[in-house]
Amino acid sequence: MLWSRILVISSCCLLRVGYAFLARRQHGIKGPGAPTLQIDTRFWSSQDRADEEAPSEPIAVTIDTTLSDDKMRSLFAWIRCAFDRNPYDPNDVYAYYYSNIELAIASAFGNNLPKDSMPAKLMEMAIKSAGDVNSKEWEEALIGDAISRRERESASLGAMGAAQWSGRFMTRPHSLLDVRNFTSVDDWVKTLPRGCKRTIKKALPELQNFTVTNKLIRGGKASPHSSYAHFRCVVEHEVRLLSNIYGQSTGAFVNALAEAISRYMGTTCMAGNIKEYRDSESNKVIGFAHEVSKGRTVRGQWFYCDDDAATRYVWFHSVYDLVKQAIDDDRIDVVDLGPSGTDAFEYLKSKYGFEAVVDWPAIADYRGEFNYEEDQNEEEIMDDMMRMMQEVFRRKDA
Ligand SMILES: *[C@@H]1O[C@H](CO)[C@@H](O)[C@H](O)[C@H]1NC(C)=O
Ligand SMILES: *[C@@H]1O[C@H](CO)[C@@H](O)[C@H](O)[C@H]1NC(C)=O
Repeated sequence: MLWSRILVISSCCLLRVGYAFLARRQHGIKGPGAPTLQIDTRFWSSQDRADEEAPSEPIAVTIDTTLSDDKMRSLFAWIRCAFDRNPYDPNDVYAYYYSNIELAIASAFGNNLPKDSMPAKLMEMAIKSAGDVNSKEWEEALIGDAISRRERESASLGAMGAAQWSGRFMTRPHSLLDVRNFTSVDDWVKTLPRGCKRTIKKALPELQNFTVTNKLIRGGKASPHSSYAHFRCVVEHEVRLLSNIYGQSTGAFVNALAEAISRYMGTTCMAGNIKEYRDSESNKVIGFAHEVSKGRTVRGQWFYCDDDAATRYVWFHSVYDLVKQAIDDDRIDVVDLGPSGTDAFEYLKSKYGFEAVVDWPAIADYRGEFNYEEDQNEEEIMDDMMRMMQEVFRRKDA
């Protein structure tokens, strides 16, 4: 099943990312460091050698840490292969290697890869099978699997902090805004400090030359943001964020890429909707915000934008938009911007009236169903039945 494959790939990403992160943190991530990534020599020679028990020495691949569009396209072509191939298929000898993220990064960003080495050959194959990687169609093609509503909902829960509302363990405090006393978004803007009011006034599509489109993530369909255009935003976002925290280093760069891949896979597996931001002149995707609504709470689940959008107040617009939507929606009492202390936006959240709350489930009520637009999800008879059965068992357990 396609879904289980994604899970395998993405949980393997998370493991690798987590591991890489820990290892590098321990050795200190700051400073220029050695500009290399250690790669197993088994990846060096032909396919048959890879299966031998030959002792393998790590080889140092020099990583070029400039983020060019070409290299990001190569990386995405590789990831498409990881999606398309089945690591459990004994006849597909390459599938296993395509799901190795460090290999993907070394192939797309490595400077000194011998042309006849396996990673270089795998990349050549990936690009050959990708079609015209420089076309607009390739950039915008949705490559995500058709994931059912039930699977999207269960994939969304962890990131929403369900561990805490289901009583399993405490998560970090969440930044919340209760919107019940506001009758319009202007009521909220009036409560903000003068500087914030000015920023909100500047964060307008017509002033910043961007457009915003609401796109629904539909159960049973590919995500509207499973394209290279969106992947590019996630990568630029993560690289920018981690280099702000750790400085310019190869370690931070490689971690940011690995993090971006797993985040991209995460957001495209989940439920909800996205706000897609495009440059109004070029129509290029410059960022997106991913929102999920459940019970009486709407959650700003993810936000990613490219370097250009970062200077055009796109994040501020997305918060404004989310607050406005929550005030206008009778089903919603609270806007949740998620855990604090995880990103550079933390201090901003409090300036915009979002209070960090330790016992946040007491205020952000997530107990009801996921909220959807009418006809948002495909009719999925088996999936709906399983969802109802799960609900019955959950009630019995409670
Ligand atoms: C809403 O208004 C009521 C009445 O003025 C007040 O008691 C309550 O604290 C307000 N709630 C919030 C979240 O501001
Ligand atoms: C938006 O486009 C207008 C007209 O092309 C230009 O004058 C203005 O500087 C642009 N604004 C930004 C923020 O790029």
